[in-house]
Amino acid sequence: MGRERELAALADAVNWPPGVVLVEGAAGVGKSRLVAETVSALRGVHVATRRCLPPRDPFPLGVFIELLADCRRLGSVRSAAGALRSRLPELAHLLPPDSRPAALFDAVRDLVAAIGRAVLVIEDVQWADADTLRLLPVIAADPPPGLTLVVVYRPDDLTGDAVSAVRELGAHAAATVSVGPLDVAGVWAMAGPVSEAAAEVLWERTGGFPFLVEQALGVLPPLDRADRRTAAALLDDAPVPGLVRDAVADAVRALSPAARALVEAAAVLGEPASADLLRAAADRPTARPEDTRGLLVEVEPGRYDHRTWFARRAVYEALSGPDRAHLHGAPCGCWPTARPPCGWPPTPGVRATSRRGCGTASAPPDWPWRPDSRTWRSTSSARSWPRRACPPPNCPG
Ligand SMILES: Nc1ncnc2c1ncn2[C@@H]1O[C@H](COP(=O)(O)OP(=O)(O)OP(=O)(O)O)[C@@H](O)[C@H]1O
Ligand SMILES: [Mg+2]
Repeated sequence: MGRERELAALADAVNWPPGVVLVEGAAGVGKSRLVAETVSALRGVHVATRRCLPPRDPFPLGVFIELLADCRRLGSVRSAAGALRSRLPELAHLLPPDSRPAALFDAVRDLVAAIGRAVLVIEDVQWADADTLRLLPVIAADPPPGLTLVVVYRPDDLTGDAVSAVRELGAHAAATVSVGPLDVAGVWAMAGPVSEAAAEVLWERTGGFPFLVEQALGVLPPLDRADRRTAAALLDDAPVPGLVRDAVADAVRALSPAARALVEAAAVLGEPASADLLRAAADRPTARPEDTRGLLVEVEPGRYDHRTWFARRAVYEALSGPDRAHLHGAPCGCWPTARPPCGWPPTPGVRATSRRGCGTASAPPDWPWRPDSRTWRSTSSARSWPRRACPPPNCPG
């Protein structure tokens, strides 16, 4: 749904072997779904799909060996492939005797060359092992007739050898299909019977990421009659879905301590901020938003924020009480008094200096700032989840 252009581009590339096709996009944006829909339409072609395992696939060339295990027919196989007899008992009867020692690398390469018309899909190449990263460009440079290799990855999560391997692959690829978030119409189409207003709110909160849309719908009541205000309130009050919490926690864990601190500071600030303000709030003078692997994006020139409302909320809620209190208490190191800018945790008897509060559960009722549609409310389930950031006028942001 909502992917006609990408489907057409991928189908076109896959239908013209031999070649390598790259499919890239952020976590949960719909890469696997796109590829699955494309290959499911193929007829008379052997299709196999396997994914690399995080954090680094522990099995050298394991993803290729698994792909090959699905093959039932092979063309002429060179002798090096005999080295795979013990690893591929399913194919032993098709393989030459293991007469000479051969590197696993050469054996797999020779077997791939014998495969005939096939579409092999390797998912999550950001986690591929070193040998797979070495083999992929070798195949891409001279793909055997009949082979289409579809390589799927998250660009933000490429590190080390994976960066150069994908760059090399790109130089040989027949096509690179970039999968971006869905637009409002796409979210509406995938969400099923929801009102147009609810679809708009879903799109705003999920950034058009199908994974988030799916998960959000799982924790919401029917939205078929919800107006904008109701849909927003329901989302505010719903818990962060467990799978979203886990996915965001995994992504944050993978960051360097400095990048993580920046991401946490952005969650507490709650609105787009300059890199300087984020660094000051995080107390990490050298941290860079670019090092947050796409968790923080430049939402307007020079200003960074979490990619989605859901991610920001998940990070905020995962903060420990003391860490949250610390960030609320001194979000940019420039608060002129000890007054916690967000009214959290409550510190009686100190002078308010902020031009607006954060609207936490403990914010005083006469706090000047009031929520608007871009913000979220604190609820009992959201553990004093702030509605809005609160940098004072003299902050570097
Ligand atoms: N266009 C779409 N219409 C409906 N549902 C979709 C669409 N795209 C993706 N989904 C659903 O959203 C979820 C996430 O999609 P998918 O697994 O394809 O993301 P991904 O980009 O492969 O993520 P990851 O990088 O984590 O592997 C899946 O359950 C998928 O079925
Ligand atoms: Mg996937």
